[in-house]
Amino acid sequence: MIELLKAVIAYLLTALQVLIHIGKKVLAPFQKLKQDIDPSGRVVLLTGAAGGFGSNLVRELLDKGANVIAVDVKMEFLEKSLGKLKCEKLEFLQVDIASNEQVVQAAEQVKELLKKWNKDRLFALVNNAGIGNSPNCVKRGGVVEFDEDEMQQVFNVNTLGHIRMVRELYPLMENKNTQLDSNASIILNVASISGRDALPFLSVYPSTKHAIVGYSHSLRREMELLKASGNDNSFVRVCCVEPGFSKTQIVASKPFNEESIFYKAYLLTKPLYFKVVSSAITPDHVALEMYRQIFSSNSYDSVIVDKWYMIVFWRLFNYVF
Ligand SMILES: NC(=O)c1ccc[n+]([C@@H]2O[C@H](COP(=O)([O-])OP(=O)(O)OC[C@H]3O[C@@H](n4cnc5c(N)ncnc54)[C@H](O)[C@@H]3O)[C@@H](O)[C@H]2O)c1
Repeated sequence: MIELLKAVIAYLLTALQVLIHIGKKVLAPFQKLKQDIDPSGRVVLLTGAAGGFGSNLVRELLDKGANVIAVDVKMEFLEKSLGKLKCEKLEFLQVDIASNEQVVQAAEQVKELLKKWNKDRLFALVNNAGIGNSPNCVKRGGVVEFDEDEMQQVFNVNTLGHIRMVRELYPLMENKNTQLDSNASIILNVASISGRDALPFLSVYPSTKHAIVGYSHSLRREMELLKASGNDNSFVRVCCVEPGFSKTQIVASKPFNEESIFYKAYLLTKPLYFKVVSSAITPDHVALEMYRQIFSSNSYDSVIVDKWYMIVFWRLFNYVF
């Protein structure tokens, strides 16, 4: 009888724990984001640093005293976009994240920079680099009309590039002394609203973003289990950022192939795209949200960055289209 009672109590306690855990998760997006981590002297690496979101984030980070490793596919992009900000706390790295070899080499360069700055870890990795259809694409069409090279290129940057960066840099993110500093490092994966609601006629772009959303969630859950198993030092926070439309280089419009059998179908989507484009958010709005997540001890698992009415729209879009 006592054994049965013990089993029932254990069962009820576990059920209560599960309910509290689910409650916390459900309420998390409504909780006020704390800004309780001091950015000063913390090392942040971001890819796609020369671009719209990236360059705004670099400015914000330097302004608040962080050390920044700015990564982009060409040194000239970094020089052009961020050259004027050059200082002791800013380093440029030319890395094509589509190349495994270059990413492996980048990890060695990051180790050297940490030594030079006398830092014991990389505090934040912001996987932000991305391409649209393809840099070489001249025409847009239906999703069945894109060729092999193009599909591989988009996945290689938007999905595999981020995964490679995590694999190579995660070992440098360990918090070696949790007694001195209890704040865990963070990995921010920049997906897109297209990773939640696949808009038509964007080639395989929405698929790459859905893939990175899935990757972020499995990475986050593994990290939480690592912590639950008692390994606090290796625990890293994971946040998936899902921005809405913003007028940066990536969305530079490419003409739709008028000979495509999808051309008339594409014209039907114009009102939807008009709505999306007319409520564009500014790149600094997105950068500020990324900054807030990095330096918050209760950073979110995922965050949609858009105008509030577009957030409602995106949530409904799934059910009506
Ligand atoms: N602008 C939007 O509407 C929007 C919306 C949702 C999500 N996003 C995502 O936000 C991220 C940043 O986009 P953005 O709007 O600042 O675009 P952007 O084109 O201004 O910046 C992208 C940057 O990534 C760099 N890059 C491209 N390929 C690379 C590679 N192989 N290796 C290293 N760097 C590379 C580019 O040189 C560029 O500096 C992207 O992942 C994009 O998919 C953008």
